[in-house]
Amino acid sequence: MSVVKDVTLKDDAHTEFFLEKHADYLSAYASQKEDYHYIMTEYLRLSGVYWGLTAMDLIGHIDRMDKGDIVEYLKSCESESGGFSPAPKHDKSILYTLSAIQIACIYDCVDVIDVDKTVAYIASLQQEDGSFAGDEWGEIDTRFSFCAVASLALMKCLWTNNGGVNLDKAVDFVMRCMNFDGGFGCRPESETHSGQIYCCLGALSILGELHRVNADLLGWWLCERQLPSGGLNGRPEKLPDVCYSWWVLSSLAMLGKTHWIDNKKLVQFILASQDDETGGIADRPGDMVDPFHTLFGITGLSLLGEKGLKKVNPVFCMPQEVIDRLGIEVQILK
Ligand code: FPP
Ligand code: ZN
Repeated sequence: MSVVKDVTLKDDAHTEFFLEKHADYLSAYASQKEDYHYIMTEYLRLSGVYWGLTAMDLIGHIDRMDKGDIVEYLKSCESESGGFSPAPKHDKSILYTLSAIQIACIYDCVDVIDVDKTVAYIASLQQEDGSFAGDEWGEIDTRFSFCAVASLALMKCLWTNNGGVNLDKAVDFVMRCMNFDGGFGCRPESETHSGQIYCCLGALSILGELHRVNADLLGWWLCERQLPSGGLNGRPEKLPDVCYSWWVLSSLAMLGKTHWIDNKKLVQFILASQDDETGGIADRPGDMVDPFHTLFGITGLSLLGEKGLKKVNPVFCMPQEVIDRLGIEVQILK
């Protein structure tokens, strides 16, 4: 028997969006470098910078971030042979390589990156079956297929000068990860998970192959992620979590089906997960806020058309105006 796990929103749950408080929270987070939480998250720092920067850009406060400091930090994470680590002296990986490129694109300074070496690094991670390893240790995951394709696209090296990446094989591998329920897992025959669905749809969208998915079947599975509280979970029988307002809703956006869920109730769930004192958004109401859930709460609200927010691109999770400036087109189903 399946069990519905959910939370109950309080009668006095927040119903307004605390934009200025979130700007204060994100700018303080970036500057309090002695803070315990900040130090303990060094192993994912460059992605943390991307989360904070993107959130600040979407709420119209990018000017409160220190561009010089951020670009200098990004350069300190670049490996001599191409690719980026989350922090100096850590191992490089395709995850942080994508974050570095996203930051450089938001700041319109891709020229600070050694594009040829970065492309060669990404190409070196592709396997015979079209999949991508995340790093030199060789784990395979559809997250890394997305990171590879999105990174190449943002550097304008997807269709030409891609270092020999085999795009047909990359698509074949992603399609081999599709399951009977229309969703995708991290490898062939792995369980469907909303995070992997976002990655697989994103890669297919960038590559113009999104029509290969079963949009009705997958759209149905995705909208079953909405719980009575209005929040979305990532898999059946899991609690709702604000970050799935991104992984699930962006997937529905690529399929042209955001109206298949109750938008108003999802807005209520995200707003209820804000902290009105510190600013920031948590995974669910009453929990501790963090920059990851703050970004995905904001991007979810942006997809839902919340006033005062810039439009987010559902594939790249970056401001749409940046994707437009780069002249990148993605495939969205009608
Ligand atoms: C859930 O993770 C999310 C995923 C598996 C997708 C992660 C996607 C990337 C790293 C690609 C880059 C992303 C962006 C936005 C540009 P989780 O570990 O929280 O899952 P859990 O809820 O099952 O623990
Ligand atoms: Zn989460």
